[in-house]
Amino acid sequence: MKKTVKDMDIRGKRVLERVDFNVPLDEKGRITDDTRIRAALPTIQYILKAPAKLILMSHLGRPKGEAIPAMSLAPCAKRLSELLRRPVKMMKDCVSSDVEKEVASMKDGDVILLENLRFHKEETKNNPEFAKKLASLGEVFINDAFGTCHRAHASTEGVTKFLPSAMGLLVEKEVEYFDKILTSPEKPFVLILGGAKVSDKIAVIENMLPKIDSLLIGGAMAYTFLKSRLKGVGSSKLEEDNVEVAAELFSKARESNVSIFLPEDHVIAKTITPDARTKVAKEHIPDGWIGLDIGPRTIKKFKEALKDAKTILWNGPLGYFEFKPFRRGTTEIAKFIARLDAVKVIGGGDTAAAINELKLGPKMSHISTGGGASLEYLEGKGLPGITALEDK
Ligand code: 3PG
Repeated sequence: MKKTVKDMDIRGKRVLERVDFNVPLDEKGRITDDTRIRAALPTIQYILKAPAKLILMSHLGRPKGEAIPAMSLAPCAKRLSELLRRPVKMMKDCVSSDVEKEVASMKDGDVILLENLRFHKEETKNNPEFAKKLASLGEVFINDAFGTCHRAHASTEGVTKFLPSAMGLLVEKEVEYFDKILTSPEKPFVLILGGAKVSDKIAVIENMLPKIDSLLIGGAMAYTFLKSRLKGVGSSKLEEDNVEVAAELFSKARESNVSIFLPEDHVIAKTITPDARTKVAKEHIPDGWIGLDIGPRTIKKFKEALKDAKTILWNGPLGYFEFKPFRRGTTEIAKFIARLDAVKVIGGGDTAAAINELKLGPKMSHISTGGGASLEYLEGKGLPGITALEDK
């Protein structure tokens, strides 16, 4: 068990906290989904109430060591300030004499947000000097950036070498849900996987097979599985290199007594466009056509497989959810799950975005704030940002 912020003596101290404010912005730099900022509030409020001085740090996007103005965290400082109803001072950099001066003059209850950590290439390289500089700003380190815990970066792993460290309340909650699912899920346990790539999910499937009862596969990754079963997939997205791997996963599933459900019909189109003309293909997809969503018969089958589940874990949309003609599969399954009495955990990233867009968030038990992080957790690997924290 790792220490949490509640195990730390933070009163009157300078608390350096890593958050994941990597939020989507539109072309005008406005935040289009502030879920990650809201999810960070409980820990932020807990620290401010101590009271303590709070120095927040995050990345946004992948600026690769360059200070790119469009990737500034300034919109996040503004949004956080609105949510907290108190000033949040935005710094121009994350390490500079200005930052040091500002930190030295902070009083209990003050909040500052450092500028995008990835404006320095040392961040992703986990450079020890850079980590030391960041650490020198605080007296205690709290990591509440679940979405970035799978990265061993200076602000997640590096800083723990220099400061007493613990997880925040968001990371604690995420870990609790995922650990419950990994160690003692209520059965039947149904895993739903979708999204584009089989390669991202192979290790997850291998780790989860001994724990689950059924696996439902949709999204583009389904076509690689279908190909391995000799189905016609037309011009659908395929990972040729993984057709063999998909076939092996079928035999492993059989050994673990897991039923795999693949799409039996498909919404197909000739182009991936918002106004594409679609039709439903049964079983095989003709040449020149692309499979872009599960069809009505599959929706029915999936519902049947889900109806008695006591634990449901879902990662990856079942169709090309960005475009209206291909969202029915994801929408219908999401609505169906919303009504079920089960532990319902939604992986982060695209699945979380789809559930939020459908306004079904309150009907789920937990929506993870981590896309890549939740997948790596489900692979059964420890996440470096968590492993590095102090044990209780
Ligand atoms: C995410 O959005 O998954 C996290 O913020 C991590 O971002 P990264 O994939 O750029 O490291």
